[in-house]
Amino acid sequence: MPELSSLKIAHQTGSYEIRVGQDLLDSVAELLTNIGAAGPVGIISNATVNDIYGGKLREGLNGAGFVTRTILIPEGEEYKTLASAEQVMSALIAQGMERSGTIITLGGGVVTDLGGFVASILYRGVKLVHVPTTLLSMVDAAVGGKTGVNHSSGKNLIGSFYQPDLVIMDVKTLETLQIRDRVSGYAEMFKMGVIRDTNYLNFLVDNMDELLQGTSLELLVKAISRSCALKAQVVESDEKEADLRRILNFGHTLGHAIESTLGYGKMRHGEAVILGMYGAGWLSNQIGDLAQEDWEKLSAMLRKIPMEISLESLNPEAIEEATRLDKKVANSQLNFVLLHGLGDAYMQTGIPTLMIKLAIDAIRTAWEGRE
Ligand code: NAD
Ligand code: GLY
Repeated sequence: MPELSSLKIAHQTGSYEIRVGQDLLDSVAELLTNIGAAGPVGIISNATVNDIYGGKLREGLNGAGFVTRTILIPEGEEYKTLASAEQVMSALIAQGMERSGTIITLGGGVVTDLGGFVASILYRGVKLVHVPTTLLSMVDAAVGGKTGVNHSSGKNLIGSFYQPDLVIMDVKTLETLQIRDRVSGYAEMFKMGVIRDTNYLNFLVDNMDELLQGTSLELLVKAISRSCALKAQVVESDEKEADLRRILNFGHTLGHAIESTLGYGKMRHGEAVILGMYGAGWLSNQIGDLAQEDWEKLSAMLRKIPMEISLESLNPEAIEEATRLDKKVANSQLNFVLLHGLGDAYMQTGIPTLMIKLAIDAIRTAWEGRE
């Protein structure tokens, strides 16, 4: 029998279910009916994902009597913008989307972030169902209610907290994913292990090859479900990121700065987060209290994750400058998620910006010395 897991996430005004399993694309119409979704269904996707999975999704929905409209956004992080969101809304309005309708996002984190944002503001909010199709969007972007678009000054600077009504994760869709996108999603699961659960971290490290190759769907269901459950614990206790939720940004202060200085599209989000986790671990060891033994373990695990990237164009000065624009800067002080130990993360304020440059040097040295 195919592995299936179901998880309920509570939030300030209700709760929603996350379904993880195989062949769930066939059940979307039934699951929509179960949550009382009606009206026109606006499917937001991109051409790559729509070509592979859009037909199957529409077939089930139309067969069950749902009227569907499909709006495609161009491929790539550089199109996760306010301008794209406006174009999507114009198309939805022109095609008869109603206040009582439902938006389904079908795609990776770019689609779930932008589609979720559209759902949160169109007609002041419509029903939202995420159908994430990348590993990263399953374990992170589609869970927890953060939606948004990028601004020329930085990533995700415009957005909203808007909880979905349902999240459907069909692990079979991961079969068509490129290896770099598998690595990218693995990075976010790895992050959950580092900040919350060392047993899970060891499980991920022990099964890294199989998870990256996607040879066992059962293993993927297990890994994804645990990562979502760990994220849910954090988000349920701090939905709007006033306190604990900030630890989910482990590796992201440097990661976002690396992504934005290199130019969107040069590096996958999770690849940048792997480098950012290395930098944050290094800082934790240098100025925090991460023991040498834990740091050596973490740095070895991170450097073993397969990544074919060149760090030649990383510019420490530009990255330092970019960290100042990060949402985690408060009162001109750089806030950074550091580690007391593996499985134990905390937010440290007042990190001197000089340390950012040194952390980037440490990352470059470590990656140049990889076997
Ligand atoms: P992505 O959405 O760009 O998808 C990566 C690539 O995979 C794209 O080319 C896409 O077309 C393709 N693709 C998607 N599904 C596929 C499939 N099943 N088979 C083949 N190809 C497929 O990237 P991503 O890594 O999924 O998401 C990154 C985005 O997520 C970033 O914008 C990041 O900021 C955001 N994010 C948001 C949150 C949040 O909490 N909201 C958390 C983490 C990341
Ligand atoms: N991806 C970080 C968060 O959801 O808070």
